[in-house]
Amino acid sequence: MEKLKNHPISLLEIIKAKKIVSQHLKPSPLVKYEGLSRLLGCDAYVKHENQNITGSFKIRGGINVMAQIKNAGINGVITFSTGNHGLSVATSAKLFDIPAIVVVPEGSNPVKIKLIKEAGAEVVEAGRNFDESSLIVSEISKTKGYYYVHPANEPHVVNGVGTEFLEIINDLPEVDAVILPLGGGSEVASAVTVLKAINPKIDIYAVQAELSCAAYSSWKQGEIISRPNETFAGGFATGMAYKTTFDIYKESLTDFVLLSENEILQGTALAAYHTRNLVEGAGSSTIMAAWKLRNKLAGKKVVLQFSGSNASPEELQNAYELSSFRDGKVI
Ligand SMILES: Cc1ncc(COP(=O)(O)O)c(C=O)c1O
Repeated sequence: MEKLKNHPISLLEIIKAKKIVSQHLKPSPLVKYEGLSRLLGCDAYVKHENQNITGSFKIRGGINVMAQIKNAGINGVITFSTGNHGLSVATSAKLFDIPAIVVVPEGSNPVKIKLIKEAGAEVVEAGRNFDESSLIVSEISKTKGYYYVHPANEPHVVNGVGTEFLEIINDLPEVDAVILPLGGGSEVASAVTVLKAINPKIDIYAVQAELSCAAYSSWKQGEIISRPNETFAGGFATGMAYKTTFDIYKESLTDFVLLSENEILQGTALAAYHTRNLVEGAGSSTIMAAWKLRNKLAGKKVVLQFSGSNASPEELQNAYELSSFRDGKVI
């Protein structure tokens, strides 16, 4: 298992991951939207990772890691997550016929638990928060010999997620800038690995929530620090940065934007208005980040990634009550 964990993250490994991932997933669409381009003052392209199976980019990492685990003859996988990572591990493990356990904190959203169970994983509700749940993961992984699929400190996840950026380069080689939400950092780290290797001039911007800004604060300070984790937007919901991904992105971002909870909701409303897509808070945060960065992005070819579609009904209701949902403007 150590050998798998110490695997390199590189452009070459991401090209290898593409051979595996593309057997199970079609490339996601990259679409230019005229209304969004007018609003933001740039050529705005959306990379629709919200349209992947499981509703997020995470499935790319899941598929790649399961292929390695199957080859290594490991008898099961375990992780902790209430969100897209849990769903990706459950779905991809089933695809490769590998038993999976997903640990979630006690009292987690029953809808999300149901989705993870339906995807084929055993769900263990344990611990009052992610820190306590993660201790239980380590215990079970030792006793059962299951591989712990970490959402960020896991090279095969990062390499799998990176296949998205090969697709972007293939479809839009002249891209000037990419904007991405950042939670554990698998996505931003893989973007840096692909895009900077191919064209170091491509700007990579990260977005996080003001209420869960551990990665932002770590980036500012140049070292990993913990911060409170209080945002409603699941994709951002982490209280710390992670070493594997942080070491890759810490010196390669052009800028890092923080959004308020209301700005995150506006993103979901604007995504519905301009692209007719259902996108969760972290997923459409890239629109409001582009709005804040509009002076720097003026006239450029910009890829806004929509990372996921698994919004809660409350989140959608709050977003669709905003005037942006009806007029497509920033409030
Ligand atoms: C919808 C969504 N967006 C963004 C992220 C952040 O991705 P990463 O953890 O790779 O930084 C996640 C993470 O789970 C997510 O589910």
